[in-house]
Amino acid sequence: MSVNGRVVVVAGATGGLGSVVARTFAGEGARLALLGRGLDKLEALAAELGLNADQALPYAVDVSDGETARACAEAVQTKFGRVDVYLHLVGGWAGGKPLVDTPADDLTSMLHQHVWSTFAMTQAFVPRLLANGWGRVMAVVSPGGRYPAGNASPYAAAKAAQEGLLLSLAQELKGSGVTSNILLVRTIDTKHERLNAPSEKNANWTLPEELAAAMLYLCCEEAGTINGARIPLFGGPEP
Ligand SMILES: NC(=O)c1ccc[n+]([C@@H]2O[C@H](COP(=O)([O-])OP(=O)(O)OC[C@H]3O[C@@H](n4cnc5c(N)ncnc54)[C@H](OP(=O)(O)O)[C@@H]3O)[C@@H](O)[C@H]2O)c1
Repeated sequence: MSVNGRVVVVAGATGGLGSVVARTFAGEGARLALLGRGLDKLEALAAELGLNADQALPYAVDVSDGETARACAEAVQTKFGRVDVYLHLVGGWAGGKPLVDTPADDLTSMLHQHVWSTFAMTQAFVPRLLANGWGRVMAVVSPGGRYPAGNASPYAAAKAAQEGLLLSLAQELKGSGVTSNILLVRTIDTKHERLNAPSEKNANWTLPEELAAAMLYLCCEEAGTINGARIPLFGGPEP
């Protein structure tokens, strides 16, 4: 199971999950494009991971914009000469109100953050993976997309649509050597509360390291037949 030398794009690299994933993949010898909106934060992350200029491309981009997404893909290709893995770890949450009281802006922001970003970035990167005849696309989705809770309509709608994009993409990728898969979590446990202060509430939370390990597995050769999967990482089936 090796991503040594692979070019891995981590969109949302400064996030709670993205930073752990970046560290994990860097530790396995991958070359990383680290994407987010703030160049300073991305450069600091590359330095913290001990990555030199040959190993990392910190790149500031608004991933929900098609034109900047295409420029980003071009920059990664120019820097490393290829792209192998696209990890869409872009996050954000809006909601907390019944649908009838939800501001339209909440829905707009969730659609931008989860749907338009996935659309723009997969359009920009997937052709480059196909050109290799090998590639991996992954995103992290919540079971709340398919089985929504109340007071969460903007997020639920956006995550459901994000799934639709990636599972439709998986159908289109059959037999290409490129796969598109979804990892499902309820809550990402960045503080390791499930281990340090176990409770009924956090029993089904997922450590970022567990997600990173699943992503690494999906990158191995033996996982090349896993395409269009929704993989739950919360210790039980949905909902
Ligand atoms: N946290 C959870 O419990 C949970 C549960 C289910 C699913 N998920 C999913 O898991 C993934 C990772 O979540 P997380 O908790 O690590 O998120 P997070 O800590 O909120 O980090 C979000 C990341 O997305 C980047 N980002 C947001 N909007 C962007 C934009 N328009 N352009 C470029 N970058 C943008 C942020 O970068 P900057 O702010 O630095 O620009 C940051 O790196 C997300 O897809 C999330 O929906 C999370």
